[in-house]
Amino acid sequence: SMVITTAQVIKWKQQQRKIVTLTAWDYAIARILDEAGVDIILVGDSLAMVALGHQTTLPITLDEMIHHAAAVKRGVKRALVVCDLPFLSYQESISQAIHSAGRLLKETGVQAVKVEGGYPMIAETVARLTAIGIPVMGHVGLTPQSVHQLGYKQQGKTEAQADKIINEAIALYQAGAFAIVLEHIPKDLAATITEKLPIPTIGIGAGSHCDGQVLVTADILGLSEQQPPFVKMYANLRQVITQATEDFATEVRQGQFPA
Ligand code: KIV
Ligand code: NA
Repeated sequence: SMVITTAQVIKWKQQQRKIVTLTAWDYAIARILDEAGVDIILVGDSLAMVALGHQTTLPITLDEMIHHAAAVKRGVKRALVVCDLPFLSYQESISQAIHSAGRLLKETGVQAVKVEGGYPMIAETVARLTAIGIPVMGHVGLTPQSVHQLGYKQQGKTEAQADKIINEAIALYQAGAFAIVLEHIPKDLAATITEKLPIPTIGIGAGSHCDGQVLVTADILGLSEQQPPFVKMYANLRQVITQATEDFATEVRQGQFPA
């Protein structure tokens, strides 16, 4: 079978083959994305907002992420499935991170985890996880688990901020991360990081020079309530579902369904 490994993902960067990534939160969506040929399916903690109605990603628990990740994994045959470690399931200590990441891999079958932030503490955690065989995707720039410090504003606009993000990305690479999400940073900064690193960058609101792109699937399908400025809506499922619901209601009320 054609299972995608993290080694394959790194090879795609060398071949300059763009890496297509989308988020999923349940079996049905995951299965559709996988059959459409998405390379990496991310069980992002954005599901706290788009699937569970929370205001931020902070409230979601590891048990809840495991519940969603298991459903996603059951729908995927080809894509590499990566799952976010939620807020405070990895920052406390390296042993907490090993415990949490281990539970995700053992209980759901996902192949990798993603953590937010750079160095030095997160990089040490990434080094330990990768040393024991748990692949890690990094995530720098706008990191939504730090929303109370950063808001949802673009990051890396000053030279000092840009240098900090570059150094975080390098530290994550040196710690063994197989890929790094670059969220909402200037495109030139993303291009610099992409050029410097031998591992792929997956951009979201970070310009077209990244090795791959990711968006929140609810955003591209028109199912989320608020979209960041860099989103492109590829379908309006809210409209489609509203129309279908109204048609069903009308037919039931008029006795046309069932015929
Ligand atoms: O939670 C999420 O969906 C993410 C992606 C936007 C990268 O972290
Ligand atoms: Na996330």
